[in-house]
Amino acid sequence: MANKMGLSSIILCSLLIFSLIIKTSFAARNLNENVLEWVKKDHRRFLRAVIHVSDLNNSIKTYTQGFGMKLLKRRKFTDRGYEDAIVGFGPQNTHFLLEMRQRDESNNVFIGTEFGYFGISTQDVYKSMEQARRNGAVVIQEPEKVDQTISGMVKDENGYQFKFIQCISAPIDPLSQIMLRVQDLNISTNFYSKALGMKLFKTQNNSQGQLTWGIMGYGRNESETTLLKLETRNNISRNDGRDGYSMLYISTEDVKKSNEVAKLVTKELGGNIIMEPVLVPTINVKMTGFSDPDAWRMIMVDNKDYQRGTL
Ligand SMILES: *[C@@H]1O[C@H](CO)[C@@H](O)[C@H](O)[C@H]1NC(C)=O
Ligand SMILES: *[C@@H]1O[C@H](CO)[C@@H](O)[C@H](O)[C@H]1NC(C)=O
Ligand SMILES: *[C@@H]1O[C@H](CO)[C@@H](O)[C@H](O)[C@H]1NC(C)=O
Ligand SMILES: *[C@@H]1O[C@H](CO)[C@@H](O)[C@H](O)[C@H]1NC(C)=O
Ligand SMILES: *[C@@H]1O[C@H](CO)[C@@H](O)[C@H](O)[C@H]1NC(C)=O
Repeated sequence: MANKMGLSSIILCSLLIFSLIIKTSFAARNLNENVLEWVKKDHRRFLRAVIHVSDLNNSIKTYTQGFGMKLLKRRKFTDRGYEDAIVGFGPQNTHFLLEMRQRDESNNVFIGTEFGYFGISTQDVYKSMEQARRNGAVVIQEPEKVDQTISGMVKDENGYQFKFIQCISAPIDPLSQIMLRVQDLNISTNFYSKALGMKLFKTQNNSQGQLTWGIMGYGRNESETTLLKLETRNNISRNDGRDGYSMLYISTEDVKKSNEVAKLVTKELGGNIIMEPVLVPTINVKMTGFSDPDAWRMIMVDNKDYQRGTL
């Protein structure tokens, strides 16, 4: 039976099993010091964000013709109950990608209030936004200059927001940012540095003072890496029933150690293990999953397995 189970059903099962069986890992306790140090040296990068869309063909058109991404894969999984398309600005082994899924049973996508946006870096915000507008996206904020940087915002047909951010030189990967809202920025930045090994590049407040955010990522500095922007305001809802943005895939050299780290950190700061380390037989990829204190999900994927391209 196991090899008939799709990825989504494995994740779902792990969720159910975990909520029934809460166990302590004694082995992990001895390795505390080691794994918490190891995570900072692990070979990690943002691989992919998974989002649900209501019309795959329509979204492929918006993301390729409108945003300038390439269609890398398109698949139909009758056993998993969805079709998907993988898009991005470059190949799977070097770029951060979006995996769009259209569920067989429903076209409804509820994005909710706490998913922020994806950031696209461009040398010409005006031109990029015009191209997006002509291909199905709706402009919700015209380009404007804030703190030396010009940016504007569009919304796709599902309601996902994309922020176009002006940059001086050609970006290494134009898909350069994800913004997620969190309840407690201090807890979240601690979580992402301890459990995920990210660096906190800076924290900032907006001029009116009602928003605070932290900028995190894996590179040596902000300009050479995909950034995770965690933003907080005073009325965040940790679970608003969202089912649009689904999860983030991040690479690791060792899914077992990644899981040990996640167990320690979720116990300290919140969040849950949603998938124990598993080798998914149909695609031969090792992975493990957990959620942060705001229920944002992360799947750690074995780096070498991912490079074979079966995921
Ligand atoms: C979506 O696109 C695929 C591939 O181009 C095509 O086979 C299919 O008929 C399209 N579906 C709809 C509903 O237009
Ligand atoms: C931030 O979080 C850490 C760990 O959860 C805690 O030790 C520290 O006191 C917090 N700092 C502030 C300013 O809340
Ligand atoms: C942001 O503002 C809050 C409240 O005014 C303050 O406590 C905090 O230190 C500020 N953080 C930054 C990074 O400026
Ligand atoms: C970021 O790091 C890269 C690679 O080390 C370097 O070329 C670049 O100048 C750095 N940028 C900044 C703003 O420090
Ligand atoms: C929180 O406040 C913002 C800005 O005032 C508002 O747009 C948003 O709908 C509120 N969210 C919730 C979950 O109440």
